[in-house]
Amino acid sequence: MSTRHAALVALEHYRLVPVVVLDDASDVPALGAGLVAGGLPVAEVTFRTAAARDAIAALADRGDVLVGAGTVLTPAQVDAAVAAGARFVVSPGTSRAVVERCLEHGVPAIPGAVTATEVMATLELGLDLVKFFPAATSGGAPALATLATVFAGVHFVPTGGIAAGNLADYLTLPAVAAVGGSWMVPRDRVRARDTAAIERLARAAVAAADAVRPRAGQPA
Ligand code: 3PG
Repeated sequence: MSTRHAALVALEHYRLVPVVVLDDASDVPALGAGLVAGGLPVAEVTFRTAAARDAIAALADRGDVLVGAGTVLTPAQVDAAVAAGARFVVSPGTSRAVVERCLEHGVPAIPGAVTATEVMATLELGLDLVKFFPAATSGGAPALATLATVFAGVHFVPTGGIAAGNLADYLTLPAVAAVGGSWMVPRDRVRARDTAAIERLARAAVAAADAVRPRAGQPA
């Protein structure tokens, strides 16, 4: 198993991973301010837009947000993300090349897996934290609970189709390290630089998570 990385300890502390699609890196100050004010200084910036690299750099420069890269599909994107300051790398599926490049950089990889075979592929790569994606359409919390019974020591970040209404279904599962989703950072609110809305959504998500599982430990 891999050594516990500080970024993973911090993710598990916050228990929530806002998944952000940024159209313009100049939207980052409003986003960062909202997340920090809402008590959730975490962001997974997805490589679905050309702004991802600059947005990661701008968030990392703040120094008060745990920033990672999402939707990372290639080793080149790993290089770009890490150079920009990403402290963790998330992928929708499991790519050996992506994971190995992360390991070379010493940055934790969180690849996607929804079947036993896929989880076993991540075990072969020495990992013990995987993204359960797309969560809702892969059987949701009941499927994840069943999958987790055969993988002692593996923890999951369910993402995809999760929002305030079903957050608790996932966060009550002991094998869930954190829950990811875009509901905390809607693309249109980010684009509108609506710091107040982002703060409100982040604060509500933290309160909902606190009701299920109080924060443990210290953020790294
Ligand atoms: C991701 O990249 O993790 C997902 O697109 C997030 O899914 P959601 O928008 O349903 O939260």
